[in-house]
Amino acid sequence: MIDPPVFGRHQPASHTIIHLSDPHFLADGVRHAGGSDSQGNLAHTLETVRRVHPHPSAIVITGDLTDFGEPDAYRRLRAMLEPVAADLGCPIVWVAGNHDERPALRAELLDAAATEEPVTGVWDLDGLRLIALDSSVPGWHHGDIDRAQREWLAEQLRHPAPHGTLLAMHHPPLPAHVPLFDILELRHQDELAEVIRGTDVRGILAGHLHYSSSGMFAGVPVSVASSTCYTMNLGRPAVEVNGMDAAQAFQLVHVRPDVVTHTVVPVADAPTGDYFSEEWTREMASLSAEERLEAFSRKPPRPKA
Ligand SMILES: [Fe+2]
Ligand SMILES: [Fe+2]
Repeated sequence: MIDPPVFGRHQPASHTIIHLSDPHFLADGVRHAGGSDSQGNLAHTLETVRRVHPHPSAIVITGDLTDFGEPDAYRRLRAMLEPVAADLGCPIVWVAGNHDERPALRAELLDAAATEEPVTGVWDLDGLRLIALDSSVPGWHHGDIDRAQREWLAEQLRHPAPHGTLLAMHHPPLPAHVPLFDILELRHQDELAEVIRGTDVRGILAGHLHYSSSGMFAGVPVSVASSTCYTMNLGRPAVEVNGMDAAQAFQLVHVRPDVVTHTVVPVADAPTGDYFSEEWTREMASLSAEERLEAFSRKPPRPKA
């Protein structure tokens, strides 16, 4: 695979992150209650992940790693993800969600003591700082970043990182248009905004909604990745939205010196055209800027009626 050539005004991405969410694994590989094949659907997603980038900086999974926090579900998830991360040469960032159980997550994914301590972490990805927050609340499905975690985050953000910081958390600090979702929203958002505003945070990666969405929080773009397990059928009236076993997706996060973009990647088997071959790309690269504009941007004359 050749690196895509750069013909425009933006510099190439310094980092590419794979952002997955909500795999909802179950013990013994049983299907999700809604009928989705959690394992099969993630395996399908990971085939796509392997294709889209040969050496991402990290694979980030923003929570609801399992459906009930069962140890066997975590073991299955780890067994599926670790070989992919090893082949791509990148770390896995596990983020806790409301369907997770911290003790089992810690024991089975982190080889750590099985405690209720929040699952947080800081990664230095060649100058890009990635901070995982734990918005889960033991025993509940709504989210929160409590005072202790906010103080810890403020301490981490005291000094900027060379390429800035991305936060990863399960509950997005955004509203949802789907009824009832706000019962489970993130609490203490104003207090969290105070910690983030004015720092080097350039993006917030989240999950929980089971559909792709984006918005701003404390002056920072928030990007919600859909689920690899089941997604919300948003093509229905909001009051009738419910889960479906279709349209799974993940996101590619490109970090450039001037901007961070979040691109939704559909997981689908569909025939694709053969318009941009490697040979064609090489030909484009061999042209001058003016020749390229002429070859690719110039509209052909409109056929006469
Ligand atoms: Fe979920
Ligand atoms: Fe969730």
